[in-house]
Amino acid sequence: MILVTGATGTIGGHVARLLTDRGVAFRGMSRNDLPNGVRADFTDPESLATAVAGVEAVFLVTVPPVPSAEHDIALVTAAKAAGVRKIVKLSAIGSGEPFDGTTVGGWHVAAEEAIAASGLAWTVLRPPSFASNFLQYRELIEASDPLPNVFGAARQPVVDPRDVAAVAVEALLDSAHDGRRYDVTGPELLTFNDQAAILERVLGRPVKTVDVDLRGQLASFGMPPEAIEQVSVGAAWASAGGTEYVTEHVSRILGRPASTFEQWARDHRAMFAAMR
Ligand SMILES: NC(=O)c1ccc[n+]([C@@H]2O[C@H](COP(=O)([O-])OP(=O)(O)OC[C@H]3O[C@@H](n4cnc5c(N)ncnc54)[C@H](OP(=O)(O)O)[C@@H]3O)[C@@H](O)[C@H]2O)c1
Repeated sequence: MILVTGATGTIGGHVARLLTDRGVAFRGMSRNDLPNGVRADFTDPESLATAVAGVEAVFLVTVPPVPSAEHDIALVTAAKAAGVRKIVKLSAIGSGEPFDGTTVGGWHVAAEEAIAASGLAWTVLRPPSFASNFLQYRELIEASDPLPNVFGAARQPVVDPRDVAAVAVEALLDSAHDGRRYDVTGPELLTFNDQAAILERVLGRPVKTVDVDLRGQLASFGMPPEAIEQVSVGAAWASAGGTEYVTEHVSRILGRPASTFEQWARDHRAMFAAMR
């Protein structure tokens, strides 16, 4: 039995679908009721104890409102008490890199360290920007408004979330990945404007961009200042070229090439068209 946290989210959703396809028993965790799921909240230890009961491996996704390792640590505590064998944690590229007098993804690193210190087996996945982040711009594209570019001309090895999920499933099912940290990247380096140009070609409609300041952008979403601070460090590191590298983990682990941004865009055309 596998526990998939974040089962209603981007990566956890794909992990759940892949486990279903492979006939692997799992329960999806959400703060709401799901078919065959478990209702639990990282802030509620009793609910976590129920979620991990009888589980062998956990796919761990946390998105605390203000970045902190607390949700990860709560899960680790429950998992250890329940005799879980392994945790596969979704982290982020660059976590732990020193930058501008601080640390990129400090909260992910604290969580990774707590998992390693627990004595449980683990695999850590550190992806860069997901191709699916562009789905949040559907309304802007529909309105022919420019998409906000917070990364300037920096290139990123944008990854298809389906590839991240597929690597996660291998890590959940195969102990050969125990104790490994993988930067799970896409196959090519693309700027934000490169991605917009690809989307424009695939959708057959204009996709323009405008350079914006990340802090102002996040504040306009109502993000708390402390969260803005932490999120901005990672983005500033990426903008300074920190993410300009590609790894072979997807092709090596899955035995097929990593999906391109163009492939992802083609496969999700209908989701953009659905706005019309
Ligand atoms: N987006 C990117 O480009 C990117 C790149 C690298 C790394 N990452 C990392 O990826 C992670 C996010 O993954 P994602 O995009 O797949 O997630 P997501 O789509 O944002 O979904 C978040 C999930 O977390 C669950 N959740 C939120 N608060 C919860 C709580 N208190 N208790 C229990 N469940 C809770 C939600 O479930 P319910 O609402 O159903 O309860 C939902 O399933 C983050 O850690 C981020 O740092 C993201």
